[in-house]
Amino acid sequence: MKTVSFLILVQLSSSTFGQIRPNILFIVADDLGWNDVGFRNPDMITPNIDKLAHSGIILNQSYVQPVCSPSRNSWMSGYYPFRSGLQHIVIRPAQPVCAPLNRTFLPQELKKLGYKTHMIGKWHLGFCNVACTPNLRGFDTFFGYYTDAEDYYTKMKGDGIDFHENFEKAKPDGEYSANQFAKRAQEIINNHNSSEPFFMYLPFQSVHEPIEVPKKYEDMYKHIKNKGRRQFSGMVSALDEAIGNITKTLEEQHLMQNTLILFTADNGGWIPYFGNNYPLRGGKITVFEGGTRATAFITGAGITYRNATYNGIIHAVDWMPTLIGAAGGGPTYDGMDGINQWIFIQTLSDSARSEFIYNLDDTPFPLTGKAAIRSGDYKLIEGYPGPYPNWYKPDTVYEGLYNKSLYEEQSISEVEFKMYADKVMLFNIAEDPTEHFDLSEKRPDIVKNLQARLDEYRKQMVKANYPPNDKNGDPKYYDGYWSPGWC
Ligand SMILES: *[C@@H]1O[C@H](CO)[C@@H](O)[C@H](O)[C@H]1NC(C)=O
Ligand SMILES: *[C@@H]1O[C@H](CO)[C@@H](O)[C@H](O)[C@H]1NC(C)=O
Ligand SMILES: *[C@@H]1O[C@H](CO)[C@@H](O)[C@H](O)[C@H]1NC(C)=O
Ligand SMILES: *[C@@H]1O[C@H](CO)[C@@H](O)[C@H](O)[C@H]1NC(C)=O
Ligand SMILES: *[C@@H]1O[C@H](CO)[C@@H](O)[C@H](O)[C@H]1NC(C)=O
Ligand SMILES: *[C@@H]1O[C@H](CO)[C@@H](O)[C@H](O)[C@H]1NC(C)=O
Repeated sequence: MKTVSFLILVQLSSSTFGQIRPNILFIVADDLGWNDVGFRNPDMITPNIDKLAHSGIILNQSYVQPVCSPSRNSWMSGYYPFRSGLQHIVIRPAQPVCAPLNRTFLPQELKKLGYKTHMIGKWHLGFCNVACTPNLRGFDTFFGYYTDAEDYYTKMKGDGIDFHENFEKAKPDGEYSANQFAKRAQEIINNHNSSEPFFMYLPFQSVHEPIEVPKKYEDMYKHIKNKGRRQFSGMVSALDEAIGNITKTLEEQHLMQNTLILFTADNGGWIPYFGNNYPLRGGKITVFEGGTRATAFITGAGITYRNATYNGIIHAVDWMPTLIGAAGGGPTYDGMDGINQWIFIQTLSDSARSEFIYNLDDTPFPLTGKAAIRSGDYKLIEGYPGPYPNWYKPDTVYEGLYNKSLYEEQSISEVEFKMYADKVMLFNIAEDPTEHFDLSEKRPDIVKNLQARLDEYRKQMVKANYPPNDKNGDPKYYDGYWSPGWC
């Protein structure tokens, strides 16, 4: 890729264009779909998110991985999951796995630039060894979850509690996590010494399943008929209120004008759990656009365009170098997949990226889509694309899909998987963003080119690190908490 000259340009310009060392607030909405925000869907009540999005730049082609841990690995390290062994679904709580320790994480770099670094929310990059946990990967403070899909109130994940404050077990006090995380963020902002900048990574639990929300938020959606979708929508509004509370605190502390805010989903909406990506195709766990084209925007310090849209391609791996660029630094690690896109976003000019990998999964039964690449306007999918291949309208009952066994790995039938084994699909995403027209038979020349590109990337792939569960991780050995110490 032609990144070398760009990197020089970016390093020179970031100090002239950007504000030096702004505070950085990196907000993640878990499993939020393309069509789950008010600025795209009038049924959704998200005034705070909409206001922020319109105060800056909506990122209209900002891609993430089809599921959670891989996206987070990309943000923190700047490396693709398929080069990190994290391409196969997510890290399960009892798997002895964590994101490769030989990679420098985003907060570690920001600390070198003088930032105070805080993380509140969901980690999901492994915790079996204490070296894997947020405090030893660059965060001065950490409050939240090691793994995923906890109860929003009790913080139970299976048989264990998953709730931590720095290296300690935290006491779940029954508060809904959106409120609890917002409150913690407000405390940190209120106590912040403004002589140094902060980086706050705020990966909310909302709006991942389980579908749980205080009734007052559900009641905002009397116009939604489907109960699941009504509750899910309430979860989105609780998240929106949490974000509103935090921005209010930033304003009260006069920090808003010097804070850069990035908001992104970690993958598309999850169809069986009422997330919605319409009109995009598919959803979480697929390599279709509905699973990978994130709801995202950027606003605040250094962003001068208002109510703008950026259609340049960004991939999750770009955020590490891009945010460091925004902070006035410029890592140029040899071989990193991410590109510093700061200047291109700031000026709404052509993206430095024309190609990226949606996923490359070498395991025999990939749930997350076997292989897909975007190059220029075209996208090639090789093999199984993932389990939700259609177009799903909101407020429609997909009872058949609300079936736990359908997303457990074991339930993907070998027959279905093999049906796709030798299939390819080709789409022109610029002309057909909703992936209705498979061009693979019409354009075998492009198929061949993109397959050759995929094969090039395959040479860099490391084997998926997806071992069986380890009994030693059982919370019963750690006072009932999911805890490090067993790998
Ligand atoms: C955002 O992307 C969609 C899908 O490609 C496109 O239809 C839409 O026009 C874009 N929005 C803007 C404002 O450019
Ligand atoms: C870091 O870890 C990754 C994933 O295990 C591996 O592929 C890579 O070679 C390692 N890099 C170095 C410099 O050791
Ligand atoms: C937002 O702040 C108000 C006022 O303090 C509080 O009542 C509410 O629970 C907060 N909401 C969230 C989601 O944090
Ligand atoms: C804020 O930080 C500066 C620089 O480190 C220090 O001199 C000052 O005492 C701090 N202020 C407070 C209130 O802690
Ligand atoms: C944003 O721009 C659109 C048209 O491009 C306009 O309809 C809308 O009112 C603007 N919103 C704000 C908050 O400025
Ligand atoms: C869930 O899906 C599995 C696998 O397709 C099927 O065998 C089962 O009958 C479904 N259960 C319900 C309640 O629909």
